[in-house]
Amino acid sequence: EEPPAALAVPQAPDPGLLLLGRVGAVDPADLDDYRAHGGYTALRRAFALGPAGVIREVTDSGLLGRGGAAFPTGRKWQATASQPDRPHHLVCNADESEPGTFKDRVLMEGDPYALVEAMTIAAYATGARHGHLYLRGEYPRALVRMEHAIAQARARGLLGDDILGQGFSFDIGIRRGAGAYICGEETALFNSIEGFRGEPRSKPPFPVEKGLFGKPTAANNVETLVNVLPVLTLGAQAYAAIGTGASAGPKLFCVSGSVERPGVYELPFGATLGELLELAGVRDSLRAVLLGGAAGGFVRPDELDIPLTFEGARAAGTTLGSGVVMAFDDTVPLPRLLLRIAEFFRDESCGQCVPCRVGTVRQEEALHRIAERTGADAAADIALLREVGRAMRDASICGLGQTAWNAVESAIDRLGAYE
Ligand code: NAI
Ligand code: SF4
Repeated sequence: EEPPAALAVPQAPDPGLLLLGRVGAVDPADLDDYRAHGGYTALRRAFALGPAGVIREVTDSGLLGRGGAAFPTGRKWQATASQPDRPHHLVCNADESEPGTFKDRVLMEGDPYALVEAMTIAAYATGARHGHLYLRGEYPRALVRMEHAIAQARARGLLGDDILGQGFSFDIGIRRGAGAYICGEETALFNSIEGFRGEPRSKPPFPVEKGLFGKPTAANNVETLVNVLPVLTLGAQAYAAIGTGASAGPKLFCVSGSVERPGVYELPFGATLGELLELAGVRDSLRAVLLGGAAGGFVRPDELDIPLTFEGARAAGTTLGSGVVMAFDDTVPLPRLLLRIAEFFRDESCGQCVPCRVGTVRQEEALHRIAERTGADAAADIALLREVGRAMRDASICGLGQTAWNAVESAIDRLGAYE
């Protein structure tokens, strides 16, 4: 029996949507229905292009990673494919744990064969025979759907040996996370699969050279992989024409908080934050928007003309991250919210390196002191927060420690959180 209902996608099923077009329209447990909705045309085009041709298309499309870091996917695939060391691995990072992020869940629950097809294409391009889907442990419905889709694809010759008679063999295994945020960091994820503690490794070497089991590995987010399907069905040029020059294609945004219609929205890059919030039903009493999740930053209601592109967010001093848009109205107590973010980072730090292990604790303590002394002078603690934040950003091993101060800093500087 399947766990409770999937998250809502507020946009009506629309075949014009390139990523969500099948969600709600296709039977997620029926491979034939997936094919009737255009499934497996991208894989056939991939076989016609050959591995190098697929990488060329993906590179020319301008596709950037959708996990949060926006690394060029074509470059990652080319770097993996060119490694002489064997075997190559493909990892799909589905350990979606950034607070406020639930787009990959919607894709896996609503259109699971799309991910199977996209992983097959990625493996074909990068020379991987083994695919690993590292799935967030708290996504039981996605697990059921992905297990079923993989089994059905295998039974129908779309996974396993000699796929579609093309002499290419590839299969996918699922590994479930166990609730640790840090295991979404790709090298901690590798350690987790290998049976070690989920602690990040130092980079370089990058996974494309030494990844899972020390072998060349292409690690991609779910949404990134699913984007490869329209890249191949539309062609690189048509895909690149969507969005902006520096942020090509469609993007999923996870809207939550003080809005009328929370959920996952698909928009071409370049729409403004205000347009997205309008779709989701923004409230007049909007006080702040957290862009990019706990690792991102706050923006003010007078900054809603920020274009939702990687470059636009950067220019505005924030990040799109994994597409989190959390709206807060004036009933939300900001100091409590910041404290909650700080608790999260302290709790999820793996403790491996000092700046993050100690810094996240000091950050939380300082925010506690400020919150408890409402109205009292917070200047000394804010100065301490800045010093600790700088140390975490400059000296932490991985993104968790490097970004643990982002949201608090932006709340102080942009929202005047403690004034
Ligand atoms: P990163 O910038 O270190 O790496 C991004 C990707 O590019 C990685 O796959 C890395 O291996 C690859 N890469 C970077 N330089 C390379 C090179 N020279 N050669 C080959 N490959 C290279 O960022 P990281 O730490 O992987 O991700 C950070 C982002 O993750 C943050 O922006 C945050 O928004 C996001 N995030 C997303 C979460 C989610 O649930 N989706 C959870 C937590 C963070
Ligand atoms: Fe672990 Fe934090 Fe260091 Fe990352 S920055 S390795 S989470 S202690």
